[in-house]
Amino acid sequence: MRVMITGGAGFIGSAVVRELSKNADCKVSVFDALTYAGNLDSIGEAQKIGDVAFFHSDLLNVDEVRQCLFSIKPNIVMHLAAESHVDRSIDGPKQFLETNVVGTFNILQVAVEFYNSISVDDRERFRFHHISTDEVYGDLEGTDELFTEETPYAPSSPYSATKAASDHLVRAWGRTYGLPVIITNCSNNYGPYHFPEKLIPHMILNALAGKPLPVYGDGSQIRDWLYVEDHARALIQVATEAKPGSTYNIGGHNEIKNIDVVRNICELLEELAPEKPAGVNRYEDLITFVKDRPGHDTRYAIDASKIKRELGWEPQETFESGLRKTVQWYLDNRTWWERVLSGEYRLGRLGVGEK
Ligand SMILES: NC(=O)c1ccc[n+]([C@@H]2O[C@H](COP(=O)([O-])OP(=O)(O)OC[C@H]3O[C@@H](n4cnc5c(N)ncnc54)[C@H](O)[C@@H]3O)[C@@H](O)[C@H]2O)c1
Repeated sequence: MRVMITGGAGFIGSAVVRELSKNADCKVSVFDALTYAGNLDSIGEAQKIGDVAFFHSDLLNVDEVRQCLFSIKPNIVMHLAAESHVDRSIDGPKQFLETNVVGTFNILQVAVEFYNSISVDDRERFRFHHISTDEVYGDLEGTDELFTEETPYAPSSPYSATKAASDHLVRAWGRTYGLPVIITNCSNNYGPYHFPEKLIPHMILNALAGKPLPVYGDGSQIRDWLYVEDHARALIQVATEAKPGSTYNIGGHNEIKNIDVVRNICELLEELAPEKPAGVNRYEDLITFVKDRPGHDTRYAIDASKIKRELGWEPQETFESGLRKTVQWYLDNRTWWERVLSGEYRLGRLGVGEK
């Protein structure tokens, strides 16, 4: 099996790479521009264990995309590369349009060219798996509803609007050009190797440094959390077993208010890191409420019954077990996040076109 993973040096992509690297029959090729979110440290171990190649390339350079895809000759393309942080999309939406929309268009075009050039047998096996988010559905204010695969798209942020656009492109390329596409829409992920700007690692690292723990609004926004390794297993199962044209929602059945996530982290740190920074009595005292994000979605919740029914996938971690593992991972892997915070992780390997 030859798998090309765009965005394989990012948070979720690197979890897929680590999982696939355990399979001796799998050749993994990571295609990544190494933006601020890409980190080769996250796939270093996988490169030692498995057959993992790295291509430093940008989706916006269509010639490079073509060159890489045709030299990799994948059976499966797993497309995760994206700009992924909602706050950044509010401050600078253009890069989101470029990578998430134009970048997806570029790889779809090249994938169609490649698909048309391979044998009938290889076409039978070929899959283009687009990894997307539940944020394309908008939010579920004041209801008990869940997002299903049939929920209409209603994105709220520049990030989710560009992801919705990319989902539409992928479906259209499946329908119009016959590309065997699969789409998955997943809820919020958390776990090891998560970039420190995201809620859970940001709170862990700020608490360890004795800095304020900033919570948007009153912290009542609800997210459905999934441990990243559970997501990686789901993605591999979908990519290898799902029928072309299918869509699956993936979620962790863990609907939790942001403020409770932060309180849970504080409680775990009391137990796992009892020696606190000077001046801190209890980690929870560091919680600070800050002005809410514009357009902040109130509730996301996934109905993941289709993937369970059709493919038998369900998460192995509860939020309690996954959060404990995550906090412990950040305590045990200081070098990884210290290199991120200091910027050292990017030395000598800045993103394509960056100075
Ligand atoms: N993180 C979540 O909670 C979550 C939930 C559901 C879906 N998703 C989706 O999963 C995918 C991966 O998310 P993530 O959290 O791992 O993202 P991430 O920001 O951690 O990683 C993105 C990766 O894409 C690379 N990249 C960015 N622009 C590129 C370009 N133009 N060309 C090539 N590579 C480029 C980056 O270098 C990075 O390695 C995204 O498509 C995201 O929309 C994320």
